[in-house]
Order: sequence, then structure tokens, then C-alpha cells
Amino acid sequence: DVQTGDEAGSAPLIVVSNRLPFVLTRDKIGKLRRSHSAGGLVTALGPVVIKCGGLWIGWPGSHDMRTLDEIPEPDIPNGGLKSQQVKAVLVRQELFDSFYNGCCNGTFWPLFHSMPDRAIFSSETWKSIPLKDQHTKTKSVQAYQEVNEEFALKTIDALRQVHSRLLKEYNGNEDVMPVPVVWIHDYQLMLAAAMIRQVAIEENLACKLGFFLHIPFPSWDIMRLFPWDDQILEGILACDMVGFHIDDYCTNFIECCQRRLGCRVDHANGNVEYDNRTVHVRPLPIGIPFNHFQELALKAPRVMKDERVVLGVDRLDYTKGLVQRIKAFERLLERHPEHLERVVLMQIAVPSRTDVKEYKALKEEIDQLVGRINGRFSTADWSPIRYIYGCISQDNLAAFYRDSAVALVTPLRDGMNLVAKEFVACQINETGVLILSPFAGAGGTMREALLVNPYEVDMVSEMIHKALIMDVGERQRRMKLLRERESSMDVDYWMASFLREMQLVECAITGSPSSIPV
Ligand code: G6P
Repeated sequence: DVQTGDEAGSAPLIVVSNRLPFVLTRDKIGKLRRSHSAGGLVTALGPVVIKCGGLWIGWPGSHDMRTLDEIPEPDIPNGGLKSQQVKAVLVRQELFDSFYNGCCNGTFWPLFHSMPDRAIFSSETWKSIPLKDQHTKTKSVQAYQEVNEEFALKTIDALRQVHSRLLKEYNGNEDVMPVPVVWIHDYQLMLAAAMIRQVAIEENLACKLGFFLHIPFPSWDIMRLFPWDDQILEGILACDMVGFHIDDYCTNFIECCQRRLGCRVDHANGNVEYDNRTVHVRPLPIGIPFNHFQELALKAPRVMKDERVVLGVDRLDYTKGLVQRIKAFERLLERHPEHLERVVLMQIAVPSRTDVKEYKALKEEIDQLVGRINGRFSTADWSPIRYIYGCISQDNLAAFYRDSAVALVTPLRDGMNLVAKEFVACQINETGVLILSPFAGAGGTMREALLVNPYEVDMVSEMIHKALIMDVGERQRRMKLLRERESSMDVDYWMASFLREMQLVECAITGSPSSIPV
């Protein structure tokens, strides 16, 4: 029973994402604890799932099989999803590694960011192959498909649970029952919808399926490099509604459906005909919890010294353009020595996917680059680059965002980029300057930022210079407009837009309820 004081009539929401909204860890005495994730998705979707009596399906960040039966309740009463609202997906570690490090982050991540040279194409991480060693107990390695199936099975369980509750609540009157919404997130789960739809049809479980991709969707030229691209497209098309951050990604997806699967498409209205259904494809740019960041910035104490800081905050990822950015800062010091001993590049790099080879190599490269530049320019009491490889608290982050003169958000490719938006939300004095890559989704809407091609290292260095000498009037004019947009188009707005689109689509799973024999 998932009753949580939900509002009568509102459609229960089932969220499916690779990560649960919290990580499970064991404390010293072996008791499981939730450590909370501070992500925008959790902040926005958590309360909605709680209110509508929905569920959240995902991986709890641990491979400990015992965690399945004993998810602890939230620390604060009513402060999180109750344990019966959570379904943890746990698979064998070897299988998960092949899925997560192999297919998700070794193949789809680089490919979808249009970096095919970095992608590995291995059938082992994708589909079932017979193992050479017949003695091993493991029959096959089908990582991506198998893990997606696990997520789909848990989702079906959740759907059955929600249905039986609704049937009780509505005395079996399916005519008036709200239709549950299943919302699947991101590139880790592009096949799950197909499996969910199949079982939902077999078991007559009414639901609407939605999918949102948080990273770019590549062009047909790139997508076709993936040997099983048709299955990915069909997996996504099993949904009724598909959301991407920006128009370009919608266009790419629709074009792939047309060219690869021969679907009839309507570019102008964002529709794809597939399997006798219309799939709605919509640009829905994600926002951040603006007020939350603004409040943090209002409260956070000062943590930086009196110097002009150029700030970078990123997961340590090759898509973020860190090497090019650090080289651009070096160029700035060469070309404009007036900034020596006055300006500091503070780069925070959050460790990420540390088991993947590309990420390890990048860390080495950045360590060396920072060391070389600091060795070259440092004086007795000043070093040009302050480099933090680790996580920092949200309070400190807000203080850095608030007190920096410039934020450098220069990814080579990025679905949206929330750092640009968080910086803006924390700029309560409106004096900072945002330098932004046009190759991030955010580059399409945050037009008052200084836009610069991150591959053009000299241009980036000139843009930093321009930002550092910009008069305060212009800085404030730009920042004010940026803040207005992000405060109205925040993460709640994004979520409401997605759910509104879901309301508009028809449920294509069940026939008319009257056709069910009484
Ligand atoms: C991106 C992806 C998310 C992912 C996050 C962190 O933002 O779109 O799906 O969760 O990176 O990556 P990780 O591999 O640690 O989950």
C-alpha cells in the first residue's frame, strides 16, 4: 500500500531514473542510512511523488543485496519518500559495471555528446553473447538490455501496486480512475519503456509513458554509428511523450526516426507516427530550484579572500572542456599581464565515473597542466590556479557563485548545463559575468551571457579579459535579465510543463474500460 495522503483525482506519478534520490550507505554499526542527493531533479520531483502517492524506481548507489528489504525511512518525518514509495533496483556488480561503465558511460555518453572517437562499441555491454568459458555460472553478459529489463520489471511491480490501490479507492470504477504516469529519465534507460508497454498491454494496466533525455540527442550522422540504433529509437518511441532540452535535439531525434525507422513525422508539430500511435516530441528546457540557490547565497558566509575570482565548477568530464579552459586562462596571463597577482582561476572538479579509463586519463592531464601553469606564474604569495578535486558543500558553492567576478561555463558539448543557472541564481548583487559555450543547451536561451566557442582558446582568453574589465552597469544589466528568466523558468516550471504535456496525451494501453467484462 502506497497511501501517503495523496490528493484525490491526481494521477499517481512513477519516476524511473538510474539513481534514486538518495544514496544508501552503511554506518559504523552496519545500519543503513540515506544520504541525500541535492540535485534539482530530486528537489522538484520528490514532493510531487510524495503528494500523489507515487513511487520512485532507481539504483541506490550500492551493490549490497541486503538493502533491498530494508530501505530506511527518511530522517525527517514527511521530509522524503517513504520506504514503500521506493523500489531499489539492484543487480550483480559485474552486470552493473558492464551496463554503467561500459554501455552508458563508455558508449552512449561520448556518442550522444558527438565524440564518437571516445566511444567503445562492444556487443558485450549491449546484448546477449555466449560466453567462451562454458564452466562459468554466468550465462551471458547482456548488460544494457538486462539492466533495463530489471528497471522495467520493478516499474511494472509499481504499476500493479498503484492500480490495485486505485481500484480500491474508486470501487473498481476504471472510468473515473486517474491514469498513472510513468516518467523515465535519461540515457541509462532508453529501452525500459518498450518492455513496460508490452507488459502493461498484456495485463491491461492503464498508464502513460514519458521519457526525458538530460543530455544532447545527436544528429543522424552520429546516431547511425551505434550498431543497434534502431533498438534505441524504438525503445524511446514506446513512450507517448518524449522531452528534450532544446529544439535541436528534438529535430535530431525526429530525423533519426524518419531515416532509420521510416516513420512518418511532422517536424512542425513535433510528432512521430510509430506503431499506430502518435509520439509527441517536445523541447522542455530544464531549470534549477532558483529560490533555493538564491536563499543559500543570501545566507552563506564569505569564504574567499579579497581577489578577483574566475570560477569553474564541473564534474571532471571530458565534455566540459576543462583542458581548453585552463589553457585559455594561461593565455590570458600571457596576453594581459595586468591580471597577474590580481586574478585567480578557481576550478572545482567533482570526481565522476572514476572507473572509466577516459576519466582517469583526464584527471592526470589536468593535474599536470595545473602544476605546470602554477609553476610558471606563481609568486611568493599568489598562484594563478586554485584547483579543488573533490566535492564542496552547497553553502560554500553558493558563496563561490555569489562572490566570483566571472563564471566560466565552457563545455565542448552539454545537454543543458545547470552550473550556468546556479551561478546566476546566486548572483544576488548582479555584478558577476557569465561566459558561456554555445554548445551547451543553456547557450540557446541565456543570451545575455558572453558566448564563446570553447575550442577557440585565444578567443576565450579575450572573453575573460572583456568580462574582467566590463563596467558595472553593463554587468548588472545582463545579470538582471539572466536572473529574471531563470527565476521564472525554474525546475518547478519545467516539471509542470512536462506533466501538462503528459496530461494532453491519450492513454494508448487499454481499450475503453467498458470493454472489460464485468
Ligand atoms: C548527467 C546525466 C545524469 C547523471 C549525472 C551524474 O547529468 O544526465 O543522468 O546522473 O550526469 O553522472 P553519474 O554517472 O554519476 O550518475
